[in-house]
Amino acid sequence: MKWFSNVVTLVALVAPSEAALRFGCSTVTLQRLDPVVEPGQVPSAHLHQVVGGNAFNATMTGDIGEQGTCTTCVFSEDFSNYWTAVLFFKHQNGSYKRVPIMENDALPAGINGGMTIYYTQQDFNSNGNQHITAFKPGFRMTVGSPTQGADGLTKHKGLRFTCLDNKDTRFPEVSDFPTKPCKGGLMTEHHFPACWDGKNLDSPDHQSHMYDTQPTGFTPGAACPSTHPVRMPQLAYETLWDTTQFNSIWPTDGSNPLVFSFGDVEGHGYGTHADYMFGWKGDALQRAMNSSCMFTACENGKPLKSQSVTEMNKCAAKNVVNEKIDGWLDALPGHPKGT
Ligand SMILES: *[C@@H]1O[C@H](CO)[C@@H](O)[C@H](O)[C@H]1NC(C)=O
Ligand SMILES: *[C@@H]1O[C@H](CO)[C@@H](O)[C@H](O)[C@H]1NC(C)=O
Ligand SMILES: *[C@@H]1O[C@H](CO)[C@@H](O)[C@H](O)[C@H]1NC(C)=O
Repeated sequence: MKWFSNVVTLVALVAPSEAALRFGCSTVTLQRLDPVVEPGQVPSAHLHQVVGGNAFNATMTGDIGEQGTCTTCVFSEDFSNYWTAVLFFKHQNGSYKRVPIMENDALPAGINGGMTIYYTQQDFNSNGNQHITAFKPGFRMTVGSPTQGADGLTKHKGLRFTCLDNKDTRFPEVSDFPTKPCKGGLMTEHHFPACWDGKNLDSPDHQSHMYDTQPTGFTPGAACPSTHPVRMPQLAYETLWDTTQFNSIWPTDGSNPLVFSFGDVEGHGYGTHADYMFGWKGDALQRAMNSSCMFTACENGKPLKSQSVTEMNKCAAKNVVNEKIDGWLDALPGHPKGT
């Protein structure tokens, strides 16, 4: 499937009538906060890397699009928050260091860390002919879970890892951490389900109000079932981790040194997960889903307002937890030593 990234480039050039959003957001904060799974808890159990609106905090209710003063995303009406666990490298001497996040080559240069966010309609090549209903104020969901085992990744075909030769490598996608150091770093992919029950903005497990019919990432989903009949945007995150600076101290005994911030004791990355809190202003996301724009052609008011990389990078959320997360650490933030 090496042709994939070429196909994407071609489509962007020759098919301007097809709609999809792909855009960069720089890091808005790295903190132990989780307003979806552990609302009100300061600090939360594990460290997250977060992009989007600067209202991000332990508790978030109501219309997020009306909260905060700036966003780290290209689209300046998007005050949503998007987050995942943070990747750490475990030294053979027992210390941990946070793996820095690097920017995606497919995006404008200079974005500070962050993620690439997608809202596609059918797949990478077409918007299909279905009406896509935008998420509503107050909507939130998660995909994956820190407690899931290997069966979780068999079920969730949208949770994947790519060992990068360079920043443009996209295949193969694998379902656990690579077993050797990667020349160009590691990419994590999180594809969310896109069929909504039409009623609940959230559910007790933050997942059962949604249903996944996508066979694998960026492919057309089967029809939504009657229990979850409303087709919503196909949301996906890509995060590029700069593991290369650890390649010279990679263990030679075959053990895996990568560990997610939630502990991830099995060391396979099975617990990979992501969270989403909708926060587009007004009807901006619905306007985009109704339009025929593709990727950067949706910027500059056609139909979405956009901002420069400098403005994106200037936006930050308040640090309410204040703990050391960088340099060599004795333990993962929030975890007892040696775990
Ligand atoms: C963040 O949330 C905590 C707990 O809900 C609250 O005490 C604090 O005032 C909030 N901080 C900001 C900057 O809003
Ligand atoms: C492990 O190695 C790193 C890098 O050399 C060093 O900074 C850190 O202090 C070491 N940790 C322990 C527990 O020796
Ligand atoms: C989007 O399209 C639907 C169906 O055609 C229409 O009812 C709705 O008003 C449109 N919304 C916006 C914001 O353009």
